[in-house]
Amino acid sequence: MTFHLHTYGCQMNVRDSEAVEALLSAAGHVRVENESDAELVIVNSCTVRDMAERKAVGKCGNLIAAKQGRGRVSESGGRVKIVGLMGCAVKRMGADVFKSLPNLDFAVGPRRFGAIPRLVERCLAGEKRILELPDDDEVPTGMDAHGVTSFQSFVTVLLGCDNRCSYCIVPDVRGHEYSRPAREVVAEVRALAARGVKEVCLLGQSVLRYGKRNPAWLPDDPPSPGGYTEAFPRLLEALSAIDGLKRIRFTSAHPKGCTDELVRAYAEFPKVCRHLHLPVQSGSDRVLREMGRHYTRAEYLAAVAKLRAFDPEFAVTTDVIVGYPGETEADFEETRSLMEEAGFDNAFVFKYSPRPGTRSAALPDDVPTEEKERRDQVLLADQQVRGQARNERLVGTVREVLVEGPSLRNAARWSGRDGGNRIVVFEPKGPLVAGEPVNVRIVEAHPQILVGEVV
Ligand code: 5AD
Ligand code: SF4
Repeated sequence: MTFHLHTYGCQMNVRDSEAVEALLSAAGHVRVENESDAELVIVNSCTVRDMAERKAVGKCGNLIAAKQGRGRVSESGGRVKIVGLMGCAVKRMGADVFKSLPNLDFAVGPRRFGAIPRLVERCLAGEKRILELPDDDEVPTGMDAHGVTSFQSFVTVLLGCDNRCSYCIVPDVRGHEYSRPAREVVAEVRALAARGVKEVCLLGQSVLRYGKRNPAWLPDDPPSPGGYTEAFPRLLEALSAIDGLKRIRFTSAHPKGCTDELVRAYAEFPKVCRHLHLPVQSGSDRVLREMGRHYTRAEYLAAVAKLRAFDPEFAVTTDVIVGYPGETEADFEETRSLMEEAGFDNAFVFKYSPRPGTRSAALPDDVPTEEKERRDQVLLADQQVRGQARNERLVGTVREVLVEGPSLRNAARWSGRDGGNRIVVFEPKGPLVAGEPVNVRIVEAHPQILVGEVV
């Protein structure tokens, strides 16, 4: 049957959706670009904040209404026959998912997406309201399924999370950490490169913990040529050797993982992009301690300094939470000043949202919504100024850009990204191919993009 996936949340979810698309295609189903052409629609949900979960559940509700001939036709084109929900919100809600969505055909948690083709068969045979919840230690099947559609691919290397930050629901929904064996990851990336993939982004909630809970390298794996002893830098070394692959990115990171070996890997392997997404969450030591982040402001700044000492253009981006329980004006100002000291290239700001079952959910959510909103706006305004200043330092430099395609705003221009994940817009000279490198001299800086000329 024709199918369409609708994805909320982070890159992990984007990757899981891509795997499901590949699995359904392999089972003979046909992916369609427009949801209104699909007979099977699957919503991949996020639950990191209340709003994220509500969007996914609301979307599912609309699809079910359309399936029953109620609601807006735009949500179905009248074709939808099966509606499924997958991902993090399913694991959080458990059987309650059918209280919110009584006519849902199936619901499947994050580490069980490999079951989806089978669940679709069961629905076609007349079953309804099927619930599949993964165990916390489950190893998914179908993780290496890819439907290569561009020169970029995500590759999951670390599942789950054991960090247990006070505010975060992810460990409850994505389970315990599990590092995929390095030989599996290398084989997957090799196969992608053979199919024309130029850039991979390795995924894990705390990707630098790769190989910590369970060994990723097996005793009979070939030794590290460069003498790397830590699992993740050693993985970067092995992936760097793959022909045809041009860039290796990874996300997200914890400052504890910024070891000397990691910095050595950045310096030694030109394919490893000089960008790190390093969520800080707060700049106040008191709040960091309450959050259970296991670093101080000074330790965080030291990690950033280490990366920038080896390359001043190294791009560091972050996530920040405003309005954590008990966050005072002084705590907030600490976050502001940390962001300035770290000189972030980009930042995502989130308003604190209590999640059921987390430690901080027991604390009063005492920062008023308007105050969260104000703090959010202040940090975003600061970041605009900072982004502009950071980008201005790059005017006049020549940057290697991997071409992505025509710019969304102006089709006469093309855009791509430099190694620091910065968007670079330029006018093409002659034909361009997505995934190919071009050298671009930067002539203009904006807070979020660079404009340049092909050299
Ligand atoms: N409330 C607000 N933001 C949150 N994040 C995680 N949990 C919460 C929460 N309960 C943010 C963090 C994380 C990002 C993916 O989402 O900043 O890095
Ligand atoms: Fe959302 Fe977190 Fe799940 Fe990603 S891992 S989809 S951010 S809840």
